[in-house]
Amino acid sequence: MGQALGFGRYGGPGVQEFFDRPDPVPGRGEVLIRVDVAGVNPLDHLLRSGLVPGLDGGRPFPRVLGMEAAGTVLALGEEVDGLAVDDAVFGFALTGGGTYAETTVLSAPNTARIPAGLSATVAATLPLAGTTAVDALDQLGLPAGATILVNGVGGGVGLAVARLAIGRELRVIGTGSTAKREHAEAIGVYFIDYATGDVGTAARELVPNGFDGIVDLVGGASLRTVAALARDPRNVIAVGDMSVTDIGGRFIERRLDRENLERSARLALDGLLAPVITAVHPLSDAPAALATVENGHPSGKIVIKMA
Ligand SMILES: NC(=O)c1ccc[n+]([C@@H]2O[C@H](COP(=O)([O-])OP(=O)(O)OC[C@H]3O[C@@H](n4cnc5c(N)ncnc54)[C@H](OP(=O)(O)O)[C@@H]3O)[C@@H](O)[C@H]2O)c1
Repeated sequence: MGQALGFGRYGGPGVQEFFDRPDPVPGRGEVLIRVDVAGVNPLDHLLRSGLVPGLDGGRPFPRVLGMEAAGTVLALGEEVDGLAVDDAVFGFALTGGGTYAETTVLSAPNTARIPAGLSATVAATLPLAGTTAVDALDQLGLPAGATILVNGVGGGVGLAVARLAIGRELRVIGTGSTAKREHAEAIGVYFIDYATGDVGTAARELVPNGFDGIVDLVGGASLRTVAALARDPRNVIAVGDMSVTDIGGRFIERRLDRENLERSARLALDGLLAPVITAVHPLSDAPAALATVENGHPSGKIVIKMA
């Protein structure tokens, strides 16, 4: 039995409630874990709001919030390869366990061991933000010396993309509001403040011949503004807005498998994918943690650490 934050129906933050739930029984291809740390992501409130029903598999209510976690394996379901009880692991709760909880089930093919030297707090941020950064830059495939724009650089994915890109010797320009400047400049990003000036004008002054690549984390009108700054529209990769294909760009291709998780962990160990973790909340504060992300302007990664 453990505490969990979930929801009994789709809706706004008002439908969230804490409840006690029995430890889930791991099914085929699942592992039961004691959660140490859960990552907080925009996807969590999108699922709660019922905006991405295709991703929740029509599971019964109440559902538990959260898609990613790091913790310790307590039990194995059938047909689990490569993981054992007591392993420290991190991964995706793709089969519906929810991770804002003291115990949950992770999908074993989408779960990896945490290598020695990597903290559970960092590992918990890798399934969504970390591997997304890896996938976006792999898809762009730009050589060292190329110049990219990260639109929405101050959030969880944006800072991860920026840090990884700088490690690959790309020149990184990033957009965000004023409060994000310090975080972005601290890792070597040339920062454009969208709140105090016109992004298109500032970017053209800096990079008159256009960007070699753009990673967009914002979408909508902002995506359309920055997409016009790319030398080749195919090198605009959107992470959240699928309508990017209407303007010739590409939606990110995601790899959620163990191999990609292991790769992201190695990059984190090497300091190339170190997430910027700006807040660590106890489970009792999970509603506040999610509210910060839901307001659309968080800095870096926010995590929930169990007692
Ligand atoms: N496809 C996938 O597998 C996948 C995986 C992860 C995330 N995503 C999606 O990718 C998006 C970003 O995720 P995230 O975790 O990085 O979100 P996040 O942590 O909430 O960060 C979003 C950032 O965008 C900034 N922002 C908002 N409006 C902006 C604008 N007009 N110009 C520049 N920056 C702006 C926000 O702060 P400021 O406005 O204060 O700068 C914030 O820092 C979300 O839509 C998420 O659902 C998709």
